[in-house]
Amino acid sequence: MVPDIAQLKEKYSALPIDALLREFLERYNERIALASSLGAEDQVLTDLVLKLKPTARIFILDTGRLPQETYLTMEATMEKYQFKYEVYCPNNSQLEQLQREYGPNLFYKSIEHRKLCCQVRKLEPLQRVLKTVDVWITGLRREQAVTRTDIEIIEWDETNQLLKLNPLADWTTEQVWQYIKANQVPYNKLHDLNYPSIGCAPCTRAIQSGEHERAGRWWWEAPEHKECGLHRRRTAETRKEVI
Ligand code: ADX
Ligand code: SF4
Repeated sequence: MVPDIAQLKEKYSALPIDALLREFLERYNERIALASSLGAEDQVLTDLVLKLKPTARIFILDTGRLPQETYLTMEATMEKYQFKYEVYCPNNSQLEQLQREYGPNLFYKSIEHRKLCCQVRKLEPLQRVLKTVDVWITGLRREQAVTRTDIEIIEWDETNQLLKLNPLADWTTEQVWQYIKANQVPYNKLHDLNYPSIGCAPCTRAIQSGEHERAGRWWWEAPEHKECGLHRRRTAETRKEVI
């Protein structure tokens, strides 16, 4: 059943971030989880969530192609907070099929090939974890991309038929980094090497000065295509496509 989003927004949207997270963690208990890419935003949320609830669920979609620096961040975070992530890997037979059919680097061939890889390595595992929750928390921010300017703190995720909580929706990059420094949160060292946004190693590069923060993700594609499908938003246009 679709919850009353307007009522939830009215009740919770204006709360300070820790009060907002506390309410949701209490209300949804085992049916809420934070999605972490181990990027700066997710590290802020990890710190907030684990301080409120040390047993909170945090999941990682381990595509198998993440940079070593991301795995080091994962280890450092587990060590600091003394907790374990829920890790989801691609389905074995789908991955074997993908590799056999297209080889290891299909993403550079076309947008369709790239999306196929994201489907097998990220979306199928995401579907599995989302079956176990009523709410997922993400580190999405409006500032991040042309595809994200209308993100709200509390949303109905029509694609996945779930509540989506984006507590950092209106945070700036500066706020994210102030929080990380002030709270000594472990972070991915690639951020210090001009990687503001980090995904899989073969699909992420450093940005040049003046470039947008997601310019290094799938850098060979146009900005309006730079989504892997994790955050597919049903606008009037895409609804038409689906129908
Ligand atoms: S992506 O769709 O382009 O890959 P981005 O890297 O900006 O997304 O991350 C946006 C949010 O998606 C993150 O804050 C996190 O909540 C979620 N996310 C992205 N990648 C992963 C991942 N590998 N595992 C879990 N959550 C992820
Ligand atoms: Fe594959 Fe690149 Fe998508 Fe990772 S980001 S799943 S390597 S296409």
